[in-house]
Amino acid sequence: MRSAPKPKKSATHVTDQTITSVSRESRVFRPSAEFQRQANLGSLAAYKKLYAESVNSPEKFWKRQAEEQLVWRKPFKTVMKGAMPDTKWFVGGKLNVAENCIDRHLGTARENKAAIIFEGEPGDVRTMTYKQLHLHVCRLAHVFENMGLVAGDRVAIYLPMVPEAMITMLACARIGAIHTVVFGGFSPEALKDRINDCKAKLVVTADGGWRRGKIIELKPNVDKALEGTPSVQTVLVLKRTANPINMKEGRDVWWHDAWEGAPNQHKAKAFDSENPLFILYTSGSTGKPKGVLHTSAGYLLGAKLSSHYVFDLKETDRYFCSADIGWITGHSYVVYGLLSNGATVFIYEGAPNQPEPDRFWRMIDRHSLTILYTAPTAIRAFMRWGDNYVLRHRLDSLRLLGSVGEPINPEAWMWYHTMIGKKRCPIVDTWWQTETGAITITPLPGATPLKPGSATLPFFGIAAKIVDDKGKEAPRNSGGKLVITKPWPSMLRTLWGDDARFKQAYFSEFPGTYFTGDGARQDKDGYFWIVGRIDDVLNVSGHRIGTAEIESALVSHPSVAEAAAVGKPDDLKGQALVVFVTLKSGHEASEALKESLRAHVGKEIGSLAKPDQVRFAASLPKTRSGKIMRRILKDIAAGTQVKGDTSTLEDFSVVASLQQEE
Ligand code: WT7
Repeated sequence: MRSAPKPKKSATHVTDQTITSVSRESRVFRPSAEFQRQANLGSLAAYKKLYAESVNSPEKFWKRQAEEQLVWRKPFKTVMKGAMPDTKWFVGGKLNVAENCIDRHLGTARENKAAIIFEGEPGDVRTMTYKQLHLHVCRLAHVFENMGLVAGDRVAIYLPMVPEAMITMLACARIGAIHTVVFGGFSPEALKDRINDCKAKLVVTADGGWRRGKIIELKPNVDKALEGTPSVQTVLVLKRTANPINMKEGRDVWWHDAWEGAPNQHKAKAFDSENPLFILYTSGSTGKPKGVLHTSAGYLLGAKLSSHYVFDLKETDRYFCSADIGWITGHSYVVYGLLSNGATVFIYEGAPNQPEPDRFWRMIDRHSLTILYTAPTAIRAFMRWGDNYVLRHRLDSLRLLGSVGEPINPEAWMWYHTMIGKKRCPIVDTWWQTETGAITITPLPGATPLKPGSATLPFFGIAAKIVDDKGKEAPRNSGGKLVITKPWPSMLRTLWGDDARFKQAYFSEFPGTYFTGDGARQDKDGYFWIVGRIDDVLNVSGHRIGTAEIESALVSHPSVAEAAAVGKPDDLKGQALVVFVTLKSGHEASEALKESLRAHVGKEIGSLAKPDQVRFAASLPKTRSGKIMRRILKDIAAGTQVKGDTSTLEDFSVVASLQQEE
């Protein structure tokens, strides 16, 4: 990468209606000529041309992509039918998603290529070629059919991050069953609610998984959940840890027993393009979790095409995404998008700091991994643990880095770029959602000049816009709401069992347009800067300010590891600005530091954003996927009881200790 000039100050636009943008980040990193030469898409002009076609002639663009990228059993007749949100894609076509991820590579040079490289937390390694993966999936498909599962049945998956989790998803896809993966960290209660919402017939689980040197008790959780789930007939249990567990007669079956004697070949049926592929539950800030439904052809095409371009996939890549398959990132960018491209996927079972905080770097060197896709919360943890853990390792196999899940603070971006990427690897900051199915706003690494903290430009087919409260497009550099005005193939089709909520949640704010729930702005180059969830936006003295920019200013202070900004009711200002801050190791909380943090934000952003109150915390409340839960901090700042659904909270003791501190 070429070096960038020092940050310059840029003008900010202030009105009452829009979100005031306060960031002054203006560094630009252009792709190196060397990266561009080998890239799957090597110039900004090429991106612009293809993007223009994709939004101006979507039928032409998607017809060509669907024909080139997917293996069809029966060709589709109509590319898209019906207006958003009820658009149907590739109507009349039939395909099998598992076949598109595995069988298509058989009989080619990829047959004996590693599909999956697995490292368990204890250090055990397993490699599985495409041919071997095929055999496993075929056998499991027979097991499922022998259990009486048919297309359309729901299967709940509650497994550790092991190859069998991927195999189970693919076996479901192969027989047309709908999987719903429930992250192994969820409680029996959360598992029960999800099973009951979709009425799963089968649960696939394990006798445990390794996390921080301990066994996660998956099976006892299943036993507890199943006390209240009348739909479940069978539980298939994988032996992973040899942890003693109870097996219930007539209900529970060992994976290895069922597997025994199942045939190695399985003739896969073809399913309609719009056949449901999976349900994935995502938390709403109020009410029960939403069962986001994705279907087959459009979803797979989105996952495959984005993997190819965003990760610049090459035959020789060894790709590592640190997300669990319990999240959409694991669905699209561990399983479907990568395997359909014939890539080698590395997966890791355990914690990033087991046995020591250099586990990722050790694995990258050990397996010569070339691409790393992880989350800002992880990057900030690595920064907090200290550079020495990184500097012990070479990391010279890496050629591309990715970030997803939250806005990445420019400071964290620079650390990732310098410490991990050694200034050589482009960083793709990918904005998307469970609902969008695939990466939606993102750099293409050989084409897009990067700006730390910006997800940059829309992916093919994505008509993204910033609008004001009335739905009118906002001028450049003034904040607003991020919407998508045209349908795209991998978008969610509905919320399971609740189409009214689907329409209400995403299409009622601006009829006919998809509302993302995020606040953002576009800069003069059209780059998108996500400023946070609209629900979290602050209103200080009439200025609406996104949380991301204030937090990034705090994280740029040498003592700060993480920060969360929230509003507290204030008679004078509307909202007073309260920030919660965790410190890097070696830094002490003090009144003087509070003052210096306030002054730092004042200097970085302006007095408008100077926090009224700085609170030090040992840790911040996060979801199990690592997002800061600001609405909980808001209640804590206001001194009121913590309200709303807290089932996705990673660790409730964090809240209890925050309530005591002050
Ligand atoms: C929300 C979606 C999509 C996979 C992981 C999360 C936030 C996600 C970014 C990014 C800024 C981001 C948004 C979005 N988000 N990626 N690169 N920059 N914000 O999926 O749980 O459905 O969450 O995560 O707020 O709406 P999800």
